[in-house]
Amino acid sequence: MQSIERRPAGTVCLATGRTVEPVYAVIDQGADLTHHRLFLLDEFGGLPPGDPARCAAMIERSLPSARHHVVGPDVDSGHPEQAALDYRALIAETGIDLAVVGIGGNGHIGMNEPGSGPASVTRVVRLAPETQDNAVTSYRATTRPTWGITVGMSELLAADEVIVLVSGSHKREIIARLLGEPPGANLPASLLSSHENARLIIDGSAAADLTGVNGSGS
Ligand code: GLP
Repeated sequence: MQSIERRPAGTVCLATGRTVEPVYAVIDQGADLTHHRLFLLDEFGGLPPGDPARCAAMIERSLPSARHHVVGPDVDSGHPEQAALDYRALIAETGIDLAVVGIGGNGHIGMNEPGSGPASVTRVVRLAPETQDNAVTSYRATTRPTWGITVGMSELLAADEVIVLVSGSHKREIIARLLGEPPGANLPASLLSSHENARLIIDGSAAADLTGVNGSGS
């Protein structure tokens, strides 16, 4: 909340998903977002308009006060590569002041799947099988999405501030990897450890059993 209030007209890049929902509920009650530029971190392609798993739909539900000025890539244009280029150019106009992100079970950030390096830009991506599964089982997608458009790691690494949120016991394994493995493209979340103003916030259930893990977070 303070990170948002510190930037009354800033540019904020917002993840969607289960992790951020309770945080957005607090922000929705307490912060005025009407003067911020809000970018979606990512969006699924190939889902019909109105599909509950679309990131735009998720953010409308979890952050209703901001629903009229959240901008995302135009995944319905029929020209995904161009849509990604346009979105990349739009973000480049201002850069990102604050990014609020979660971590996927495979270590992805947004839809930067394992293999995404620090130079990766906003682009069309093929989704990992587990990300496709998660869209159906966790977000109730009506069809299995195979691709999406994501803000790249390079744009996130260039953000002024990044807040990485992790919650739930199902994230214990990825947190242990994150804190125990050297940073690299096989674990895109680990790349944020080189960011000088990134914070990793882990809830109790995701942080359990970390005794003995070497290394530190971002
Ligand atoms: C999803 C989204 C990300 C999200 C992450 C964690 O696939 N593409 O933006 O932050 O994975 O999701 P969740 O919080 O639902 O576990």
